[in-house]
Amino acid sequence: MSAQPYRSVLYIPGSNARALEKAATLECDAIIFDLEDAVAVTEKSNARDQLVDVLKTRDYGARARIVRVNALDTEWGRPDLLALSQALREGAMIDAVLIPKVNAPADLDKVGDLLADVPLWAMMETAQGVLNAASIAAHPRVGGFVMGTNDLAKELGSRDRPDRLPMQAGLGWCVLAAKANGRIVIDGVYNAFRDEAGLAGECEQGRDMGFDGKTAIHPAQLEVCNRAFAPSDAEITLAQRQIAAYDAAQQSGQGVAVLDGKIVENLHIVTARRILARAKAIAARN
Ligand code: COA
Ligand code: MG
Repeated sequence: MSAQPYRSVLYIPGSNARALEKAATLECDAIIFDLEDAVAVTEKSNARDQLVDVLKTRDYGARARIVRVNALDTEWGRPDLLALSQALREGAMIDAVLIPKVNAPADLDKVGDLLADVPLWAMMETAQGVLNAASIAAHPRVGGFVMGTNDLAKELGSRDRPDRLPMQAGLGWCVLAAKANGRIVIDGVYNAFRDEAGLAGECEQGRDMGFDGKTAIHPAQLEVCNRAFAPSDAEITLAQRQIAAYDAAQQSGQGVAVLDGKIVENLHIVTARRILARAKAIAARN
């Protein structure tokens, strides 16, 4: 789990000037500027030009800036990468480039050849890609994973269920792969963007599995994501008490402590410190 917060990661269509402007004031930890599926075929090159201009001139503060390009096997993929490459040379601020439908590490090699010096993130949204999650996460250019649950469901022919049972194997496998390699991993979108309770439930599930945050499609979803993926007051208090109990045990020559009837070992202290670091990073952002 990263200290840099990625609780809420908002998609913005690169073609939507109003949303691009609005995003600079929204309470999201990161933005995915989309050139892929949120942009109509007829708008692809306009969106690319507009986005490059925005990334060179607009201040998005502490929000991480991630650009989702079109896949290299489409006619827009290569021009997207070349435009971003030039924009980076001209001082555009881009924290990562998100590659759709990554099936294998070789897909990232091809992108990497066209785009130097920026971390690549991978959309995990094909059955092949999910099966190869471990080798994709180990690719040296990879910074993070974003789950593309709509595309994955389409490919699997799975049904949408509130418990996401059909997604569980893929979600869990991608979390394992990301964590084994120290990468960020962000959960997929919740499509019903006016259904706050449904979103909250799905956020909690993703958080409990180990995701760092959730992708959002609408500003109304940000607060729910931010709340779910931040340590709660109770978690912060418990972490502080665990650290204090463990320190006291150590001072009296014991290797483990007992708090509220539960054992506290050094591994719990690692988690406790991580919770406090995250809380601090989130407080700094607010
Ligand atoms: N990012 C930033 N601002 C957004 C936004 C987004 N993703 N979605 C909506 N807004 C803004 C609108 O511009 C509007 O701003 P304003 O009222 O201050 O002018 C405000 O939020 C309210 O928008 P609303 O009218 O409720 O939504 P809509 O009907 O205009 O749009 C969607 C609904 C789903 C089409 C739109 O949210 C969207 O395009 N989301 C992103 C989709 C996407 O990127 N998909 C690809 C990945 S799955
Ligand atoms: Mg997709």
